Amino acid sequence: MAHLSNLPEHVAIIMDGNGRWAQERNLPRVEGHRKGVEVIREVIRAATELGVKYLTLYAFSKENWSRPKLEVSFLMTLLSHYLDSEVKELHENQIRFNVIGCIDDLPGDVAGKIKRNMEKTKNNQKLVLTLALSYSSRFEIIEAVKKLCRRVRAGTLSENDITETVFSKELFTADMPDPDLLIRTSGEYRLSNFLLWQISYSELYVSEKYWPDFNKADFVQAVGEYQKRERRFGGTAPTAQCRSNERPTGA
Ligand code: IPE
Ligand code: IPE
Ligand code: MG
Repeated sequence: MAHLSNLPEHVAIIMDGNGRWAQERNLPRVEGHRKGVEVIREVIRAATELGVKYLTLYAFSKENWSRPKLEVSFLMTLLSHYLDSEVKELHENQIRFNVIGCIDDLPGDVAGKIKRNMEKTKNNQKLVLTLALSYSSRFEIIEAVKKLCRRVRAGTLSENDITETVFSKELFTADMPDPDLLIRTSGEYRLSNFLLWQISYSELYVSEKYWPDFNKADFVQAVGEYQKRERRFGGTAPTAQCRSNERPTGA
């Protein structure tokens, strides 16, 4: 059971298993995606109730464009409906809506709605909800490298001034802290090109449940498990007096 101390500030989730959930019920894969959206609603509520500040959900990878056309177009339609029906409520609940990934890979109307909703909710403070859409961590890293190269070539940045902080500021996640906790559902133990730089010191939690079966109690359980972990960031085990789940300052 989660308690209020040592909460993860940023929770990221690889929402996996929609297709298998549907197939096990002899339903088309897309029904799993439909049910998955309901779970997103529940998990956002759980995160705000607990006081998590950043929730980042992997919804569609760059690699997912290789799926059958019908599945991809269903997902885009679902996303479009989500943007119409949910963001108003997010705004009322003081939630900032954010997207990382290549927004312009998405159909024009969807990209437009995303940009408008990001602008509309940009001052909300309760929670930053980020969807990763057409996202690839390797692509993100390469783009950051290119931007830094351009700055060096233009003479506005010296090679010796490239630090982890400077590099991080060129990523899609520039304004966010790194995830403290990364959850993956459906019992798969892999990262699938998600936030590879940012999760260097995140705590990992794998749920055996398919995403459509995941619920508020599972989210609270994952957070509770995180609270029991001892984060070391490469140091030694902390003594009883200074046990903390936070990254040491100056690291
Ligand atoms: C996750 O579920 C959702 C997306 C990647 C869009 P999947 O669609 O990957 O479901 P499985 O892993 O095939 O069961
Ligand atoms: C990861 O799931 C991507 C998302 C959840 C959006 P995938 O189902 O695409 O990952 P793999 O193919 O099993 O690694
Ligand atoms: Mg999958």
